[in-house]
Amino acid sequence: MTVRPILIHPDPRLKKKAEPVTDFNDALRVLSEDMLETMYAAPGIGLAAPQIGVMKRILVMDCIKDEDAPKQPMVLINPEITWASDDQNTYEEGCLSIPDQFADVVRPSEVEVTWTNLEGDQQQQKFDGLWATCVQHEIDHLDGKLFIDYIGPLKRQMITRKMQKLKREMARG
Ligand code: NI
Repeated sequence: MTVRPILIHPDPRLKKKAEPVTDFNDALRVLSEDMLETMYAAPGIGLAAPQIGVMKRILVMDCIKDEDAPKQPMVLINPEITWASDDQNTYEEGCLSIPDQFADVVRPSEVEVTWTNLEGDQQQQKFDGLWATCVQHEIDHLDGKLFIDYIGPLKRQMITRKMQKLKREMARG
C-alpha cells in the first residue's frame, strides 16, 4: 500500500466532477487500499479519489476516532444519496485538502446512501452523526464541491489565500 500525495486547495481537480467507476478490477482494489492508507496516515476520517488526483467516484471513510477501538474502514464506489432527513446538524468541518482550517457547515443529520462495493455488489445504508456529515462531505468532493463552498465569501477568500500561501511555502520546501 502506498500513501499518495493529497492535493491542496486551490486545485482545478478539486473543482471537477469525477467519473463513475465501471471496471471492478485489481487496480480499483489497489486504489482503495492506497486511499485508506493515505487517509489513516494523514490522519483523517474520510478521503475522496479526486483529492489524490484520481477523477473517479470512489471514497473511503472511517469515523471511529477512538484509537483503541477496532478500525471500521469503508469503501464506497459510485455512492448516491437516496434520502436525506429534514433534521439538520451543524458540524465544524475540516478537510485534508484544506489543512488546519475549520468552519461550521449545516447538513441533513441523517442520510441514506446506495453504493457499489469492491466486489461489485450494491449496498445501501443509513448514516447518522459524524458518519452522515462525513459521507456527505466526501460525496461533495466527487462533484467538485468543498466544505468552504457552504460558508460566506469573505471567510472562503481568507481560507483560499492562506492555502495559496501554504502551497507557495510547500513548493519552496
Ligand atoms: Ni474533504
